Amino acid sequence: MFYKFFILPILQRINPEVSHFIVEIILQCPFFRNFNPIHYIKKPINLSIKILGIEFNSPIGLAAGFDKNCKNLYSLLSLGFGFITGGTITFSKRDGNPKPRLFHLKKSKALVNSMGFPGDGLQKISDRLKHYNSKSENVFLSVSGTIKKDIIDCIKTLRNHCKAFEINISSPNTEGLKIFHDEEKLSNLIFEAKKVTTKPIFIKLPPWDKNNKNEGDYLSIAYTSIKSGAEGLIVANSRPYAFDKLAVGKGGLSGDPLKNDTIRMVSEVRNKIGSKPIIIACGGISDEIDVWNCIAAGANLCQAYTAFIYNGPSFAYNINKKLSALMIDKNVESLEKIQGQSIIKR
Ligand SMILES: Cc1cc2nc3c(=O)[nH]c(=O)nc-3n(C[C@H](O)[C@H](O)[C@H](O)COP(=O)(O)O)c2cc1C
Repeated sequence: MFYKFFILPILQRINPEVSHFIVEIILQCPFFRNFNPIHYIKKPINLSIKILGIEFNSPIGLAAGFDKNCKNLYSLLSLGFGFITGGTITFSKRDGNPKPRLFHLKKSKALVNSMGFPGDGLQKISDRLKHYNSKSENVFLSVSGTIKKDIIDCIKTLRNHCKAFEINISSPNTEGLKIFHDEEKLSNLIFEAKKVTTKPIFIKLPPWDKNNKNEGDYLSIAYTSIKSGAEGLIVANSRPYAFDKLAVGKGGLSGDPLKNDTIRMVSEVRNKIGSKPIIIACGGISDEIDVWNCIAAGANLCQAYTAFIYNGPSFAYNINKKLSALMIDKNVESLEKIQGQSIIKR
């Protein structure tokens, strides 16, 4: 409440990149790393789940892109997320696309961005990550690039600093990533990645429309990823979106408008790849009903970014509390048992 009515309006008056910078500075204060009370509230036991040997105490994670330079992973985890993805990390330092490149679409609770992977680059981020004890914390790292060797070097260098990797082949803001939509190149990338790490690999898919002629292509990217050894998929990235206020004129849409598509895509991917591979739903997830619906449609875990911006620091904590209560109400003992349940209509 306090965040929505007092803090968010102030942050929304400032340039969104400046407000993000301010939030990053705040998160660096010791309170969030060591004393944040949310961190010490035990998460409801019905939200615990073990996937690929990793213990999660909540199914909701913070999606890639919020902590691109991995400066605040622990502080963000202390807000109640079950896991967090740092990055996307690229081999070289990048300035990203020209500004302005981030806008709030307040009425639709959405963001539109054309960031283009601004970041400190592999060397600086891996030095920073040496201070983290990634063995005990559920940190995933997102890596990307347009050259296979760069991505593999990132994975090789970072393999002791995370529990899993996401390979981002789907940012709408970096055209060159599409080379990995070619099935042979994608298969080869995953094969090489598996040679340098034993950590699970997730491929982050681009979103697709219902009845779009590309639908089959994207489902075969999903299938190829799993067949080539990836343990799972993130379904999906932000949606390509033309927006003339962005300096480059187009970017990625995220937030509320994506949620129905996310549920549909999860269900389509689950039908395509079978029951075993892991699916992380991502796109427009903003409350316990969205998490329920995505898991019911076939996801194992969920991620969110935009709803965290709109709901503030108590976002994950509230989802945990309400999802647990919803499960008790529906007599469902564990997250696994949500799979196959009916979708909850609003
Ligand atoms: C400002 C911004 C930056 C993002 N940067 C990345 C990124 O670096 N890597 C990535 O895989 N996804 C990135 N994303 C996409 C999110 O991880 C997520 O897939 C997308 O926003 C949909 O989820 P949401 O509707 O919960 O925000 C970014 C999203 C936003 C809004």
